[in-house]
Amino acid sequence: MYGPSQRRPQKRWVLSRDGMIPKERDLMNDVVLTGDRPTGPLHLGHYFGSLANRVRLQDLHPMYVLIADYQVITDRDLPGEIRRHTMELLLDYLAIGIDPAKVTIFQHSAIPELNQLLLPFLSLVSVAELGRNPTVKDEIAHSSQAAVSGLMFTYPVHQAADILFCKGTLVPVGKDQLPHLEVARLVARRFNDRYGEVFPLPKAMMGAQPMLKGLDGGKMSKSRGNAIALSATEDKTALLIRKARTDAERLITFEEERRPEVANLLTLAGLCLGRPPAELAEEIGDGGAATLKRVATEAVNEFLRPIRRRRAELTEGDARRILAEGNERARERAVRTLEEVRAAMGF
Ligand code: TRP
Repeated sequence: MYGPSQRRPQKRWVLSRDGMIPKERDLMNDVVLTGDRPTGPLHLGHYFGSLANRVRLQDLHPMYVLIADYQVITDRDLPGEIRRHTMELLLDYLAIGIDPAKVTIFQHSAIPELNQLLLPFLSLVSVAELGRNPTVKDEIAHSSQAAVSGLMFTYPVHQAADILFCKGTLVPVGKDQLPHLEVARLVARRFNDRYGEVFPLPKAMMGAQPMLKGLDGGKMSKSRGNAIALSATEDKTALLIRKARTDAERLITFEEERRPEVANLLTLAGLCLGRPPAELAEEIGDGGAATLKRVATEAVNEFLRPIRRRRAELTEGDARRILAEGNERARERAVRTLEEVRAAMGF
C-alpha cells in the first residue's frame, strides 16, 4: 500500500515484537529522528548545517523527519500561517532529496498518540529540572512574549516524546538542542527504571558544521533577512548577494578573523562548489568584491539549480499525499509505542 518504503521500518517492528531487547537492537541498527519547526522556509545555513547530513543518513538507517507544528506555539502566541509553512517545509525536504520512500515525514498535529506520551513523561521530570534547561532559559530571555507559557517549560519533554515514540536512537541536532536531548535520555532512563525496559537511550549526533553566517555577517536566520532560502529564485539570490556586506580592500583573501564578511562569502561559494575557500580567494585575487560576489552568485545558483528543478516538478497534491502517508506510518508506530507504555505502566 505504501510502496517499498514500508519494508524497512516494518521489519524492525517485527523484530521488536519478537522480543529482542533494546540493547541488541541498538547494536544492529539505529533509528534516526530529527525535525524542524514550520516557521518559514529553510535556507542554505540549514542545508550545510544539517540537511545535507540527513540526505546521507537516509540511505543508512530507518529515519523519521518531524514537522514540529505544535512546537511553533512555544515562543509565540499564534501558529501563524501554519499550513503554508508546513507545505513549504515539506517541499524543501523533498526538493533537497529527502526520499519519502525511505523516510517517514510527519507532523505532531496528526499523531495524537505521540502527543499523549507527554502525560506520563511529564510525571518523570521535576519542575526544578524543567527550569534549569539552558536552551529554554535562553529562549525566555530573548522572547518578545509578555508572559512565559507553561509550554515553554515543558516542550523539551514533548520533544522527548518526538524522539521516543519511534524509539529513535540517533538525533542529528545542533548544539542548542543538546539540553533537550538530555531531557529525552532522562525520561527514557526513568521510565525504564520505573516501569521496565521500553525505550532505548537516544544519542545526539553533531555534524561537523561549517559555520555559515548571514549575508550581513550576523547569524544566518530567516527572520533577519540575511539568509538565502532554498526556494529563492536566481534573481532573488543575486540580489541578496549583491547587497551582502564586504569591505574596501581590493585584494580578496580568506581571513576569517580580520575579514569575516569576505570570508563568509568565500565559505558560501566554497561549500556550493565543494572547494576550499582559500583557493577561491587566490583565484579571485585583486578582482575585488564585485568578482567575489559574481563567483558566489554563480556558485549558489548552480548549486540550487537541481533543488529548484525538483521543487518545480512537485505538485501540491503530491506533497499532500506524501505527508498523509508519512503521518499514517508514524501514527502506526506511535500507537504501538503508546500501547507498550500503557501496558508497562499497568493501565
Ligand atoms: N526544537 C527543534 C528546533 O527548533 C525542532 C524539533 C522538535 C526537534 N522536535 C525535535 C529536533 C526532535 C530534534 C528532535 O530546531
